[in-house]
Amino acid sequence: MNFEIQKRSLAQLHRDAHDALVVIWDQTSPLGQDPLSGWVHQALKAGDFEHKTGSVLQSYGMPGLKARRVVVVSCGDGKTADLKAAVSAAWASLKGAKIQRLGLHWAGNIDPGQLQHAVVTLADASYIYTTTLSKAKPRALAQVSLSAASVTAAHKQALDLAQATVAGIETAKEWANRPANHATPSDLAAAARVIAKGPQLDCEVLGPKEVTKLGMGSFLAVARGSAEPLRFIVMRYKGGKTQDAPVVLVGKGITFDTGGISMKPAAEMDEMKFDMSGAASVLGVFKSLSLLRPQVNVVGLIPATENMPDGTAVKPGDVVSSMSGQTIEILNTDAEGRLVLCDALTYAERFKPRAVVDIATLTGACVIALGGVRSGLFASDDQLANDLQQAGEASGDLCWRMPLDDDYAEGLKTKFADVANVAGRAAGSVTAAKFLQRFAKKYPWAHLDIAGTAWKSGAAKGATGRPVGLLLSYVTSLASVAKPAKASPRPRRSA
Ligand code: BES
Ligand code: MN
Ligand code: ZN
Repeated sequence: MNFEIQKRSLAQLHRDAHDALVVIWDQTSPLGQDPLSGWVHQALKAGDFEHKTGSVLQSYGMPGLKARRVVVVSCGDGKTADLKAAVSAAWASLKGAKIQRLGLHWAGNIDPGQLQHAVVTLADASYIYTTTLSKAKPRALAQVSLSAASVTAAHKQALDLAQATVAGIETAKEWANRPANHATPSDLAAAARVIAKGPQLDCEVLGPKEVTKLGMGSFLAVARGSAEPLRFIVMRYKGGKTQDAPVVLVGKGITFDTGGISMKPAAEMDEMKFDMSGAASVLGVFKSLSLLRPQVNVVGLIPATENMPDGTAVKPGDVVSSMSGQTIEILNTDAEGRLVLCDALTYAERFKPRAVVDIATLTGACVIALGGVRSGLFASDDQLANDLQQAGEASGDLCWRMPLDDDYAEGLKTKFADVANVAGRAAGSVTAAKFLQRFAKKYPWAHLDIAGTAWKSGAAKGATGRPVGLLLSYVTSLASVAKPAKASPRPRRSA
């Protein structure tokens, strides 16, 4: 999909031969003397169109306009959520029409941030998964021409960011949507290698031998039951100065989660192909970075494996040694995400990171707590928490901070190891985060539980590409801030 942006007045729109022209109308949009304004004026008067988010007016073959279809959509008073709803409604009203070239015009003023939301929303609405269909109909939409009466350099910059975000989101969707037999740990490693081709990028893939040598006994324990060899993927993007401390993104890469010996029930188990959505979001961010090339250093770590039951699989009660040296009693083999992440968090220490953010479809409890609206955010560092929360608001890819009081770790105590991998049912997303925190003491750390936000179930089943938007917004915000050459580490909170 290709995007461009041009300066156009309402009166100039009739010249463009789009398959469909969508005009976004807000309460302040001026009504002119052009045919479109006349049409809207008439509909407003007749009550067939109103200043209410999602109100739609559609025409086919409108005299005087080259575009085949014209859709005028109201975005209410123009707030971000209204704009997103308006773009979705306009696209939905074109359902069934074959739209290759779309015009998207703002009748009123548009700020650069909103342009980005509109582009990401349109891409999201028009996305279709095709990889494992024998007669797939690819997405028809190929060209999107944005326009408004006033277009500045800031709008063009916002469009670049939006396009890179879309590419990252669609990379994440693609890999998360693929069934587990088309997205094995080795497949993810191959995808990472492809994304890391090109300048300033680099990818290294470790297998069982190297991971054994590193002492990642926890990660290895999860992989034991699987016939697919594990992969530990290390991606690097070097857009900053050599001495700039990187941000490390760690993505949970369970390519299929059966639960292992503590097996999950059959209903909806297919959705556990999405259990590598954290990994997919890291691949997505690197795809975006490869296009945007901001001045920042980023490391991506993906511990990838299946979680399978087998004669060789790890058993409830087994005690394993993590790379950190801490021993772990695996009381439930279905709490495997934290077991692969803890070794990756220890590995992250070698990069002397400015911050580490792990992204994981970690707990069903987080789905209960926050649903599909906001991802769960846990952080040992207030500044990092605020930065991520703000990145969520800016990108519309929202998160919500959750607590990390030490009292929540009580249930992880056991007689047989330094720590158990599960506590009771209460506050399940918090106890999971408390487990991870034990392995993330050496740098500012945050954890995003995306169990509720990474994919949709039911009729709309599919990956959302979240939280690529949030992460990219965070990473690029660091690039624009000039840093002192030798910044002293920020004080950290204990809880
Ligand atoms: N991948 C699941 C978490 C999950 C479940 C995400 C449902 C989205 C929807 C994770 O590995 C898991 O199984 N977690 C267990 C932990 C429990 C055993 C402490 C859970 O949430 O039930
Ligand atoms: Mn599990
Ligand atoms: Zn899992």
